[in-house]
Amino acid sequence: MADHVTIVEMGPRDGLQNEPEVVATADKIALIDALSATGLTRIEVASFVSPKWVPQMADGAEVLAGIKRQPGVTYSALTPNMRGLEAALAAGVDEVAVFASATEGFSRANINASISESLDRFAPVVAGALRAGVPVRGYVSCTVDCPYDGPTDPADVVRVSQALLDMGCHEISLGETLGRAPTDRVVAMLDTVTKVIPAKHLAGHFHDTGGVALANVSVALDYGVSVFDSAIGGLGGCPYAPGAAGNVATEALAKHLEALGYSTGLDHDNLAAAAKIARRITEPTHV
Ligand code: HMG
Ligand code: MG
Repeated sequence: MADHVTIVEMGPRDGLQNEPEVVATADKIALIDALSATGLTRIEVASFVSPKWVPQMADGAEVLAGIKRQPGVTYSALTPNMRGLEAALAAGVDEVAVFASATEGFSRANINASISESLDRFAPVVAGALRAGVPVRGYVSCTVDCPYDGPTDPADVVRVSQALLDMGCHEISLGETLGRAPTDRVVAMLDTVTKVIPAKHLAGHFHDTGGVALANVSVALDYGVSVFDSAIGGLGGCPYAPGAAGNVATEALAKHLEALGYSTGLDHDNLAAAAKIARRITEPTHV
């Protein structure tokens, strides 16, 4: 049997958080319901963050209340602090995620805290989620380059990833937030990180500004990473990483992995249908 790779769908969160116009709650729900029919087992559907910082994600509770949950699918959300965790738990998420940065500049711009302050803030969030029986994913942004601080020292990626694992995160998603990293820089980062953190705890989160994401997925596969984040239709970007484009497109990632001989469990026709919805609801003229 082919080795299996798990794709974690980011479109409804990382994708829609960056839309210039706020997408209607009903449209988000339609997109998530379509994604639930594709074979995806993990979908990030919302962020319980400050609506002043990311107004596009203000309706997380309504989104979670409106979707038709498919058995076997984990619906997750970002939680930056205790307030976010409480709201996410009340909305009935299956998993939450805390999000740190390997660099001080992005940490300050994205969550208004130094790395060390952010880790202090996340510790009770992770503990509270685990007490409630909800697993926690950890993100580390800017693992190769930072829009504010330049190239990232891989040792900083190790340090922040290890701190999140020590808190109780089951997985660390390594963000190539700018989406332009040449493969040799991703090799250098993974070479350092996987010497300390087993690949089974890692996921790859490649934005695709420069068309290098699929090549970087191949690099990460060589290091034993078997979980990758992507967004249907390549939606999105991060509002605090100026100029960065969306995650690698889910449909392109699935084809790439299958061409390499991996199984994804995804249905290409249903992915195409979800991509069509993603395009429709993010068209500037959409009403
Ligand atoms: P702050 O301004 O330092 O904190 O923000 P605050 O406590 O002063 O809160 C500001 C206001 O937000 C207050 O309201 C709070 O009550 C409210 P006010 O009193 O002014 O009316 N507030 C909240 N409201 C709802 N839910 C909450 C919440 N918390 C505070 N949970 C904070 C600090 C962390 C809250 C803020 O910086 C924030 O929300 N940042 C999130 C930014 C974000 O979501 N970025 C995108 C996701 S990360 C990403 O995309 C990268 C990733 O994809 C990986 C990669 O690609 O690298 C994961
Ligand atoms: Mg991202």
